[in-house]
Amino acid sequence: MKRILVTGGTGFIGSHTCVELLQQGYKVVVVDNLCNSSPEVVNRIHAITNQSIEFHKVDLLDYDSLSQVFKQHKIDAVIHFAGLKAVGESTKVPLNYYHNNLTGTLTLLRVMQEYSVFNMVFSSSATVYGDKNPIPFVETFPLSSTSPYGRTKVMIEQFLQDAHASDSRWNVSLLRYFNPVGAHPSGFIGEDPNGVPNNLMPFISQVAVGRREKLQIFGDDYPTPDGTCIRDYIHVVDLSLGHIKALEKLIASTKPTVEAYNLGAGNGCSVLDVVRAFEKSSGKKINYDIAPRRDGDIAAFYADTKKSYQELDWRVERSLDDMCRDTWNWQSKNPNGY
Ligand code: NAD
Ligand code: WQD
Repeated sequence: MKRILVTGGTGFIGSHTCVELLQQGYKVVVVDNLCNSSPEVVNRIHAITNQSIEFHKVDLLDYDSLSQVFKQHKIDAVIHFAGLKAVGESTKVPLNYYHNNLTGTLTLLRVMQEYSVFNMVFSSSATVYGDKNPIPFVETFPLSSTSPYGRTKVMIEQFLQDAHASDSRWNVSLLRYFNPVGAHPSGFIGEDPNGVPNNLMPFISQVAVGRREKLQIFGDDYPTPDGTCIRDYIHVVDLSLGHIKALEKLIASTKPTVEAYNLGAGNGCSVLDVVRAFEKSSGKKINYDIAPRRDGDIAAFYADTKKSYQELDWRVERSLDDMCRDTWNWQSKNPNGY
């Protein structure tokens, strides 16, 4: 039975991936410093799976503590989620983002090298396609980014390419997520942002549950059919299953490589499409105002999913209605989060 180290495993996407890993028979070790997640997640994962993860409250910046985790458990592969992720905040405190995300990753890579663990699945993002590429985004497009957060993803992808070029044992899957939303259908785990949500779906669900008065829709004058921005929303359970496919491929491979894969639905929905679908799933009216455009938003993007379909044998199975239903199930059962 393979043992997987999941960094950031108590976070939104990490927690859902831990559930799928346990259910598919993997052993799971989690390191997280809990800067953006709750220790309650460990109990919730147990409640869903009736199995336990090995949880270590460890900061990736702490080489010695991380090294102890590798000493204690024989790790076969790492899924690396841990990082700071708020685009707007990253423009205010870029050095914190560079320190946490870049130094944290470098520390992890050094420890992995020390223990000869070379399999890694890395959480990258569609933000690495920047604002100049045509849509749909294809893995071979040139990379750039418009925020310090996004640049940490571009740089980490480059670190991993360079590591492989210097030592061909590095075997890496770079997963570029589009817009992850939704929650586990049990309602035990979901997205629980601190403070005012930056992202659309958690904002809508907090309006639905009465925690916020109304949604601001950032612009209705984009060159799209209804004037609001188009994004490629993906259910977090489909996303988690993409990690399992990537992991299986890494573990089975005889020739280590660094490969990038888009994880998205391959089509776009507008902000108004999401609002309407959420109203239908929840039976709640979502009050909104049209507000000015948000700095840095681009009109529309979605994934080309051919490579992940052909090489990972993966595609999404859950619809926008499923994403809204599961988000509402989580939010209504946990109105104040964990
Ligand atoms: P999240 O904030 O819920 O989870 C990240 C976890 O990492 C948190 O539990 C946090 O406590 C932990 N962490 C942060 N810095 C750490 C450190 N130095 N040491 C140990 N733990 C640390 O975020 P998420 O939405 O689950 O995202 C997971 C990953 O996916 C991130 O790398 C993010 O950039 C990437 N990603 C997310 C999205 C999205 O929209 N959610 C989209 C694309 C990519
Ligand atoms: C979606 C749409 C907003 C909030 C971000 C990151 C990206 C990736 C995913 C990490 C946009 C509109 C939003 C609101 C709104 N994360 N909106 N009112 O910006 O596509 O992507 O998360 O890698 O890097 O940039 O997602 O959910 O913030 O916005 O009208 O209160 O909803 O303008 O059109 P985004 P989002």
